Amino acid sequence: MAINKRMEDALNEQINAELYSAYLYLSMATWFESKNLSGFAHWMRGQYLEETMHGMKMFNFLNERGGRILLKPIKGPDTKWESFVEVFEQVLNHEMMVTGLINKLIKLSREIDDYASESFLMWFVDEQVEEESTADEILSRLKLIGNDTTALINFDNELKTRQPTALALAAIMDQPAV
Ligand code: FEO
Repeated sequence: MAINKRMEDALNEQINAELYSAYLYLSMATWFESKNLSGFAHWMRGQYLEETMHGMKMFNFLNERGGRILLKPIKGPDTKWESFVEVFEQVLNHEMMVTGLINKLIKLSREIDDYASESFLMWFVDEQVEEESTADEILSRLKLIGNDTTALINFDNELKTRQPTALALAAIMDQPAV
């Protein structure tokens, strides 16, 4: 069944929100690079990839449902922050805002009896729990670290180990994850 116009519009908006998230995290990556914290920058690059994957999962779903994808302008992200804690406060607040957007989409899918979209969107509900929890964890670590430079460098090294997920690459290329 062709996708309902309201859901088509809402998913197009969400694709834009996900790509904006990617852009925001890429901006944070460059900020960390300017501070020579390559582990944090690396982690943010991973986040950029994950958000691109979220947008592309929606893009692929809308395509499959016969919807028309209309890419909109992506607004410019912030480019500087006062502290490491401030960066991750923004990440956490941003993720909580995105959770609200996903919840609204699910509400809409229920209103219009679009069970295919509801089922698809449930993946994002679980994903948001993880996204919020990770942001909160890093924020708490940074608050504990405070002005301890050695601890900050150790944490930076820890964040260098993040690997891109096969799922991210598969969604971006519209191929099965291997
Ligand atoms: Fe795509 Fe981090 O929400």
